Amino acid sequence: MSTVYYTASSLDGFVVDEHDSLEWLMRNDVDGTGFGGYDDFIAGVGAIVMGASTHRWLVEHEPDVWPYEQPTWVVTNHPDAVTAPGVHTYAGDVASLHPQLVDAADGRDVWVVGGGDLAAQFVAAGLVDEMWVHYAPCTLGAGRPVLPTASRWRLLDTGRNRDFVGARWARADA
Ligand SMILES: NC(=O)c1ccc[n+]([C@@H]2O[C@H](COP(=O)([O-])OP(=O)(O)OC[C@H]3O[C@@H](n4cnc5c(N)ncnc54)[C@H](OP(=O)(O)O)[C@@H]3O)[C@@H](O)[C@H]2O)c1
Repeated sequence: MSTVYYTASSLDGFVVDEHDSLEWLMRNDVDGTGFGGYDDFIAGVGAIVMGASTHRWLVEHEPDVWPYEQPTWVVTNHPDAVTAPGVHTYAGDVASLHPQLVDAADGRDVWVVGGGDLAAQFVAAGLVDEMWVHYAPCTLGAGRPVLPTASRWRLLDTGRNRDFVGARWARADA
């Protein structure tokens, strides 16, 4: 059981462009069953945590259906904006939230969905065991960074998925 930051990034390290758009990823996504694909990954996930901006993007783009079966926490200072049934909210130090995520995952992985802002808080607290990044075949020039904190990693695996390069790392001190 691990806490995993699993995401996609442009080659220049952005998860969304300067207009907060994921259009670059929607046009050309990874194969769910290919190397590091979403289908295998999500099958091992027992609990999910995401930031308020990521939650907002999801409900704006998939308004009729909440896409996750797993217990989910949205980290936000505005809990009233989170209306999906069964989704928990939390504000404050992510280190205090982490034990609840691990309990809820019940032996499976905790997925830190992002964005980079939230993932950086988990990484800075030493709570992310593994990171998966699928690098898309494009640059964005500007946007929100994949992981805006200093950190060191040990490369575990790399592979191709469609036109993406997938890489998986473990925390360097783990
Ligand atoms: N490329 C990908 O695969 C991928 C994956 C995930 C997300 N994304 C995208 O990345 C963008 C998000 O980027 P981001 O890094 O700026 O946002 P984010 O991490 O999703 O959300 C940041 C927001 O979450 C709230 N928050 C964060 N930490 C908190 C804490 N400890 N306590 C209370 N509230 C906290 C704050 O919002 P409030 O104060 O307003 O509550 C903060 O502005 C989204 O547009 C999303 O769609 C892309």
